[in-house]
Amino acid sequence: MKALSLAFIKVYQKEEQVQCFAPGRVNLIGEHIDYNGGYVLPYAIPLGVSCAASRRNDRMIQLYSCQYPADGIVTYHLDDLTLKGSWADYPVSVIKVLLSLGYAVDEGVQLMFDSSLPVGAGLSSSAAIEVAVLSALKELFSLSITNKQAALICQWAENRFMGVNSGIMDPFVSVLGQKNSAVLLHTDTLDYRYIPLGDVAVVIVNSGVKHSLAASAYNQRRQECMQAAKDLGVSSLCSLTPEAFEQKKHLITNPVSLKRAYHAVYENDRTIRAAKALEQQDWLSFGQLMTASHISLRDAFEVSCEELDFLAEQALHWPGVYGARMTGGGFGGCTVNLMAPSAAESFSAALGQWYEQRFGFRPAVYICAAGHTGINFVP
Ligand code: GLA
Repeated sequence: MKALSLAFIKVYQKEEQVQCFAPGRVNLIGEHIDYNGGYVLPYAIPLGVSCAASRRNDRMIQLYSCQYPADGIVTYHLDDLTLKGSWADYPVSVIKVLLSLGYAVDEGVQLMFDSSLPVGAGLSSSAAIEVAVLSALKELFSLSITNKQAALICQWAENRFMGVNSGIMDPFVSVLGQKNSAVLLHTDTLDYRYIPLGDVAVVIVNSGVKHSLAASAYNQRRQECMQAAKDLGVSSLCSLTPEAFEQKKHLITNPVSLKRAYHAVYENDRTIRAAKALEQQDWLSFGQLMTASHISLRDAFEVSCEELDFLAEQALHWPGVYGARMTGGGFGGCTVNLMAPSAAESFSAALGQWYEQRFGFRPAVYICAAGHTGINFVP
């Protein structure tokens, strides 16, 4: 936080008025069902985005990222918030949503960002920057925004302006995540509860792969799910139990939509069962559900890739590992691995070495305790 303050003074020649932090997340299970009305089970990790901010009074928006110093100060006028195709589009999109909802941020602002999250790794760096800026603007302009509204505002920024029809999971857990607990969120009702993680280690391994068509492939998956729900005559796929789905599935004529629906319905069921296993600290059952989730994402939802499959499969060879799967949107990004805490260090070293032998570089590995949130929204 101190470093960000110093950077703020260096760049803007004045002190910041507020500083906020928004965490990234790792999703333990419940993948690609936050836009199908399903349950998800993510938790906030200690990596995230910090935002320092100060008011202006000339209707200018200035943005600076410590990750992109070569961009210098990116400047907008509130009368022209046309997106420019850079990292600054994320915070500017949030400002656009706020303005469209009638929130007064109309005096202008100076913003500075610093992030410890890898970009495009499936750990929700976009939601974190959006939640960080929203949190800073809320404090700076005394905006009355509840936690759930904050998550929705960030989702709208993605959907309306960033061209990704993402669900509510990422901003929701960035706003509401709690230290040492996963959040069991029902994405249909936005009801949620915390489940303590207990005595287990979560290791995140970054494959380093980024798929350039990830956004369009993501939107296509969502479209295929909507088509399947329409064929089945339901508002969302996860409103069906596996038994109800089996009775109706002949109504889906397109084989691709059928595979997507199969994943969504059974992934929702796995997540409900995983939440119970987590409550009972039944790591073996939890791990098996994670592994089944990966197979379904690979074969039925088709959002994995060779590197993620390698990581998820090899992980299971290490003693003490309960389960492994890709996490987040897919097409690259990270795997999440659940294991006995005593296995974490040796696992990380071994898997890193295996990956390097196969793909020629060492993956970044994060051994995570449950994260924290510095977000301060009205409850
Ligand atoms: C991305 C989206 C989320 C969710 C996941 C997949 O992270 O932003 O809304 O759909 O993919 O579970």
